[in-house]
Amino acid sequence: MPVEETETKVIVTHPADKSTNLTILKHGATVISWKHKGLEKLWLSDAAKLDGSKPVRGGIPLVFPIFGKSKDEKHPAFKLPQHGFARNSPWELLGQTTEKPLTVQLGLGPEQVDPELYKLWDNGKNDFTLILSVTLGDDYLSTGIEVENTGSNEFEFNWLFHTYLRIPDVTDVVVNNFTDAKCYDQLIGENYFEKSPMISFTEEFDRIYKEIDSKVIFQVVEFGKVLTSVERDSLPDAVVWNPWIKKSEGMADFEPKDGYLKMLCIEPGHVNSFVRLKAGEKWNGKQTLRNGGEIKVQTN
Ligand code: BG6
Repeated sequence: MPVEETETKVIVTHPADKSTNLTILKHGATVISWKHKGLEKLWLSDAAKLDGSKPVRGGIPLVFPIFGKSKDEKHPAFKLPQHGFARNSPWELLGQTTEKPLTVQLGLGPEQVDPELYKLWDNGKNDFTLILSVTLGDDYLSTGIEVENTGSNEFEFNWLFHTYLRIPDVTDVVVNNFTDAKCYDQLIGENYFEKSPMISFTEEFDRIYKEIDSKVIFQVVEFGKVLTSVERDSLPDAVVWNPWIKKSEGMADFEPKDGYLKMLCIEPGHVNSFVRLKAGEKWNGKQTLRNGGEIKVQTN
């Protein structure tokens, strides 16, 4: 069976190759595993809570309607917890939509969100439908989101795919194509232009790269070989994050404690500005993670 549903998960298996598959936890519609020819491409903490009690530490949690915590007391999303409620709500499997490539969809509406949480967003005034399309290709995984304003109130939101990539050793990889991009460094609270031709990792890293043309692909490169390429549609920003030693120690659901060496978050999103949706309007964004590829050097 290419698509299998259990009470808590959806498992999608490539029809021509059983060792290429993915698992989606219905809680948060979080893709928690993507195996390409038997090789796991996503990092998942050994202590991740998969029982719906908190967002998953690993895989691809979904950030909506706010990235981080709003600092503006007057903003409608000010009271929401960090990264909003999509990653912390029970999504529903809508079904399989295409066979080649294999795609499944999951949906979320306000009625599925914990009412206490939902009313923290603009006093529960915003009606929406989220549809996540997850496609398992021969050498790629894509996650596409459609946000529809199904109410009469105009609203604004952030979207972000909080992708945890699994890598052999973060100190051996570089990521290309951020050169000359505008960047906000969350650790020092400063804006600057990224000047490194390749970014590398030797300490805690938490930067928001902004307004990058969608033709630009980010590639995780290890000793001259591309491990994973990250492609984007309508997602102009990307957060790059590694918690390193101290921050991982402070996260109870981050195990093993040296797991920061095996992961790197590259998180395509729309977070530097909000998307505004009038009643009846829709917005779409997509990320594609591709296994391998040729090195492509692009400028910003
Ligand atoms: C990243 C942020 O996107 O998410 C970091 O840039 C944050 O600042 C990280 O620490 C993890 O957030 P959380 O809420 O999943 O612990």
